[in-house]
Amino acid sequence: VATQGVHKGLVGVVADVTAVSKVMPETNSLTYRGYPVQDLADQCRFEEVAYLLLEGELPTRRQLNAFRKAEAAERGISRALIRVLEEFPRKAHPMDAIRTAVSFMGMEDPEGRDTSVEATRRKALRLYAKIPTAIAAIARLRKGLRPIRPKPELGFAENIFHMFFGKVPEPAIVKAFDASMTLYAEHSFNASTFTARTVTSTQADIHAAVTAAIAALKGPLHGGANEAVMHMLKQVGTPARARGWIDDKLEHRALVMGFGHRVYRSGDSRVPTMAKYRDEVARLRGGEKWLEISRILAEEMLARKGIHPNLDFPAGPTYYMMGFEIDFFTPLFVASRITGWSAHVLEQMQDNRLIRPLSHYVGAAERKVVPLRARG
Ligand code: CMC
Repeated sequence: VATQGVHKGLVGVVADVTAVSKVMPETNSLTYRGYPVQDLADQCRFEEVAYLLLEGELPTRRQLNAFRKAEAAERGISRALIRVLEEFPRKAHPMDAIRTAVSFMGMEDPEGRDTSVEATRRKALRLYAKIPTAIAAIARLRKGLRPIRPKPELGFAENIFHMFFGKVPEPAIVKAFDASMTLYAEHSFNASTFTARTVTSTQADIHAAVTAAIAALKGPLHGGANEAVMHMLKQVGTPARARGWIDDKLEHRALVMGFGHRVYRSGDSRVPTMAKYRDEVARLRGGEKWLEISRILAEEMLARKGIHPNLDFPAGPTYYMMGFEIDFFTPLFVASRITGWSAHVLEQMQDNRLIRPLSHYVGAAERKVVPLRARG
């Protein structure tokens, strides 16, 4: 029921100002602190982008070296956390596992109760460094394998492959993964970022905000879509079945995962760049079948519904072809988005006002309490 003055889903509501990123649906473009995201993905390493989001400027070589060194030094996770991870049920979704791991890291953090901007900046670096280690440990432990220690001499992307698989693939695969990290890093007031800002607005700490943000990211309408896309492509199975499959979905008015966006109406700015890297990974890993199914689904969705794919559509099969298990796709999104969330947490802290909207009541009219004994 539409009620006047109510903005269901906060559609079209501008909730605050931000200097972190700008989404421009009219031109299908997105900038991080003024730089087009596709240029960052092609020309920079994810570490540079992380620095840009956290510090506001692209680093000089000297600044980047110091940042990388600081991150590499913080990659280790505690024995206590590993013991906690070992106790998680094997069937647990990795998003639930990383959410709980981040919550635990908050209790262990050496500056746990310090919510100053300076301490929060240091905590953000620790989260950025430790989250991939925890995710890879979760992946190994649930298979009964020992976690692989991070290697400080490896770059951010290389180290993730090392911790998941014990080896680093060829540079083109690493570049595709690194670019996906950049494309996933930040996207203004999406649901998880707004959640992180809402928690921060109560003066709670960054681990609390990030734990809540991970919870918000899990849902299939948000970050969980990259996993849902791969399940969908596998369900379709072969290019020959793609048209019939989509006919059936649209007939039943079902959602087709990886399509549509609240802000972009004529295409997600990140898709062409991610699709370029996906295609390269498919060439190297022999995944042309997924490209062909994707091409048919995108063509049909556009022709019949006028709906374009979003970033999760090319990202899902890219991670699959790289060898990641499907339920780790959204945790990989976390490893990237921690940078955007942290930038927003810091921004919210520095110009805070409690986020507390109103609601329009439509429940029962005021009535008298009948005592329990008289209620029958
Ligand atoms: N498949 C089929 N129909 C769709 C889809 C879709 N993926 N997306 C939108 N529609 C339909 C929708 O049902 C509605 O139809 P009707 O007017 O007949 O009720 C119409 O298009 C307009 O929907 P909308 O107002 O654009 O939807 P919204 O802004 O409330 O929701 C969305 C945006 C992303 C939640 C939605 O497009 C969706 O559920 N997509 C699938 C999930 C997905 O891929 N999510 C990832 C989002 S982007 C990256 C990220 O955050 O991770």
